[in-house]
Amino acid sequence: MNISELLNLGSKRLKQNKIETHQLDSELVLSSLLKKQRENLLINLNKKVSKNTIDNFEKLIIRRANREPLAYILKKKEFWSKDFFVDRNTLIPRPETELLCESVIRIFKNKNIHILDIGTGTGCIILSILSEIKEGKGIGVDVSREAIKVAKKNSNKLGLNKRVKFINKSFEDIYGYKFDLIVSNPPYIKTSDIKNLSDDIKKFEPKIALDGGKEGLDVIKKVIYKSNTILKKLGMLALEIGYGQYYKVSKILKEQNFKEVLLVKDYKNNVRCILAKFKD
Ligand SMILES: C[S@@+](CC[C@H](N)C(=O)[O-])C[C@H]1O[C@@H](n2cnc3c(N)ncnc32)[C@H](O)[C@@H]1O
Repeated sequence: MNISELLNLGSKRLKQNKIETHQLDSELVLSSLLKKQRENLLINLNKKVSKNTIDNFEKLIIRRANREPLAYILKKKEFWSKDFFVDRNTLIPRPETELLCESVIRIFKNKNIHILDIGTGTGCIILSILSEIKEGKGIGVDVSREAIKVAKKNSNKLGLNKRVKFINKSFEDIYGYKFDLIVSNPPYIKTSDIKNLSDDIKKFEPKIALDGGKEGLDVIKKVIYKSNTILKKLGMLALEIGYGQYYKVSKILKEQNFKEVLLVKDYKNNVRCILAKFKD
């Protein structure tokens, strides 16, 4: 069998299982197996593939046909133009989270700041920020021990070990430090909405990374309360929030003595990220 035939086989199987991106996914799976760029496959369509490659390819295609996200199959996801290692213990980094990184980086570029990332997962937020703010250092915390292992792996890969520590604990147990910047993309889906998520998400991504309680605001609220005690007087809190949560989160921020300094909207015009400071 050659590359073209194998790609068609994979694509057909994924199409039968209603995977919309069947062609692309088939190409990405094979390019990952052969450790070649996708473009390289497409100019070598007549090249023969080994029996071993065919067997491994079929196994991965079956996983994708069962709706496992490609990021978990390939064990990587691009975020902030870098490849992050991911596995099923971590949320797959989302493009909207790059909006948060972008705003923070713009504000703190060239500043010597101490950052806390609450619910760090793969570490994608704090590592992307530190890769741009060379004077910064920070801590990422997560209640998932396995997620912390992934974050450490990514920090090694990106050569950022000296400037970041990853700690397996709840942010509620942080005492004795004050930060210039607290960033967080907390779990914010309403418990009752989880069943309506696509299979890719609800069957594979960790529930603890998604479930924000009855109104989706349980963890966000606690992050705001905690920030009240561990953010420096002139510090900044940068939060990612879910669709339609802006008014409620805004109210909690005001009650907790914060004023909003920047709102970042997604391409559908929803506020997805709030940057806030203490009122004067
Ligand atoms: C939505 S995910 C975000 C992951 C990553 N920061 C990102 O943006 O891709 C939320 C993360 O918060 C973690 N988490 C949930 N409750 C926590 C708590 N009380 N303390 C620390 N981390 C928590 C989860 O394990 C999960 O990794």
